[in-house]
Amino acid sequence: MAQHIPETFVDELIDRLDIVGVISERLPLQRAGHEYKACCPFHDEKTPSFTVSPQKQFYHCFGCGKHGSAIGFVMDYDGLAFVDAVSELAHSVGLELPQGVAAEQAVTDQSKPLLAALEQAAVFYATQLTGNAEARRYLQARGLSQDSIERFQLGYAPNQWSDLQQHLGRRGFSDQVLIDAGLLVSKGDKRYDKFRHRIMFPIHDRRGRIIAFGGRALDDNGPKYMNSPETAVYHKGRELYGLFQARQRQRPERLLLVEGYMDVIMLDQQGLRAPVATSGTATTEQQARMLFQTTEQIICCFDGDRAGRDAAWKALQNLLPHMHDGRQVGFVFLPEGEDPDSMARNSPQQFNDLLQTAVPLSELLFRELEKDLQLGSAEGRAALVSKARPLLQRLPTGVYRDMLMQQLQDRARHSLRLDGGAKSRSNQAARAANSPQHGEPGTTAMVRTPLLHLAALLVQQPWLAADLSSNDLQVVAAQKNADVVLELIDFCSQRPQISMVKLLEHWRGHAAEALLHELTGWRLLAEAVLDSGDDSATAREQWRQTARDLLLRMQSDQLSARIRMLTAAQQQGVLDQHQKQELRRLLMDKQQLQSQPHGSKL
Ligand code: UTP
Ligand code: MN
Repeated sequence: MAQHIPETFVDELIDRLDIVGVISERLPLQRAGHEYKACCPFHDEKTPSFTVSPQKQFYHCFGCGKHGSAIGFVMDYDGLAFVDAVSELAHSVGLELPQGVAAEQAVTDQSKPLLAALEQAAVFYATQLTGNAEARRYLQARGLSQDSIERFQLGYAPNQWSDLQQHLGRRGFSDQVLIDAGLLVSKGDKRYDKFRHRIMFPIHDRRGRIIAFGGRALDDNGPKYMNSPETAVYHKGRELYGLFQARQRQRPERLLLVEGYMDVIMLDQQGLRAPVATSGTATTEQQARMLFQTTEQIICCFDGDRAGRDAAWKALQNLLPHMHDGRQVGFVFLPEGEDPDSMARNSPQQFNDLLQTAVPLSELLFRELEKDLQLGSAEGRAALVSKARPLLQRLPTGVYRDMLMQQLQDRARHSLRLDGGAKSRSNQAARAANSPQHGEPGTTAMVRTPLLHLAALLVQQPWLAADLSSNDLQVVAAQKNADVVLELIDFCSQRPQISMVKLLEHWRGHAAEALLHELTGWRLLAEAVLDSGDDSATAREQWRQTARDLLLRMQSDQLSARIRMLTAAQQQGVLDQHQKQELRRLLMDKQQLQSQPHGSKL
């Protein structure tokens, strides 16, 4: 929660951070004039519309509308909560977290040694693999190339109880760190290496840090795979095996979702791009979100057996809320006794052919729903509707959702009032998901009233607040719904130096946060002026002038409204002496206003 971290700390952090550095650690950025560009990591695109402004310390995607500070970027890209993002970024610039936060933030501080231990463990396992003929033979027998072994940093955990513990112990890692990292098991007073006599598959997070391992037995003794437990750095439902490697190449056009480690590596080796796997669990919503942050097209490859079909159905349900228009999901089921690994190894072509037969999500959806239903009867069709409706309502609003609703009507042979209360709920959800906070383009264009226009100016150029006179404030206060803008003016005038990015961070969690974000995207000055730099004297004068014009216009509108009212009353002969005086004064004021020079045309 934002309130746990003092505002001054966030300000200092923003001062020390360089958003270009933060983002380029995660994406390749290209210089373009004053700014940097990249293909947006939050939606699919071929030409870059994601821009990073070092001057504003702000990123903005003109394609999907997503934008924010370095902190916001790390939250969305790394999937971190605010406090975790702040803490991680603070660490990266050597800022110590304030005391109260530090205690809560034990997670991040604690994670450093865990990550270091995991990385060292991977090096150790890789070295062991080189030195162990049996393990090398095993991988060879499974058809893995040296390239693949290196690309996925495969290793071997020796058939000993404490080799890793001793090796890392000599490098200064305490038993406790190894236990916390899931590398060492502590049972009673015994401690021993978790992974023994296994092929080791390091699991990377999206930034390429090793956060866990999967270990495969070389023979049939014991469980086939062992995986790291959940730790401070590893949450199985939030990771996808192979995603880091998939993103290292150019942005993949599609992702292949498979079940196992070996599937990922073999598909990759055979040029069947870009495979990722859940680590032996059902696909979670978090994983669905991650998939679509990388690409718009996903093909899920599951076994043809009962378990594979169940897995596909679970994945389908968690993919639904992310099926924005333009996204595609297909399903393929492998023939009995095959998995992607075996099939791709024997014949990449055959696997590729299989991919061409992918069943679209909508088809699988109806096929599964209709499986045990008699659609010839009204009962069957009614059952279909009641089973389908909650699922379709998970879809974001859009053409795709409308089409599936239509399909349901056609199949049920009934024109449905499908939505009712539930629709407005899911619409709300869709709107929430569409708010700039969530990275999707907003759907409703906001009316540019002079008041909102002024608010946009203040958000983008907070220093302007200091220019406002008490008369200006009265003008603002007389506008409808001016509370937020007054609060904004008050906020900015107390902090004349604050930047837009800091302002947004301060308003994180405020009821008007989404509004402020929306306003950051409004173009307020002519392109030509902005090109000369936001901070140039010309630009500053234009900003000022724009604000003055807006205030004049509000004032003049207010005067006109009052004059209209009084004039109407006068015509009915109901004006008292007082009001007559007021009217005269107002008419004079208005004349005076109109004689003032106007700068820009609004
Ligand atoms: P599979 O049983 O399909 O194994 O499990 P696989 O990937 O084909 O492995 P190979 O080809 O026999 O070596 C799929 C995934 O389920 C998880 C692993 O992530 C595995 O890759 N799994 C499987 C476990 O976690 N534990 C197990 O005992 C088995
Ligand atoms: Mn397999």
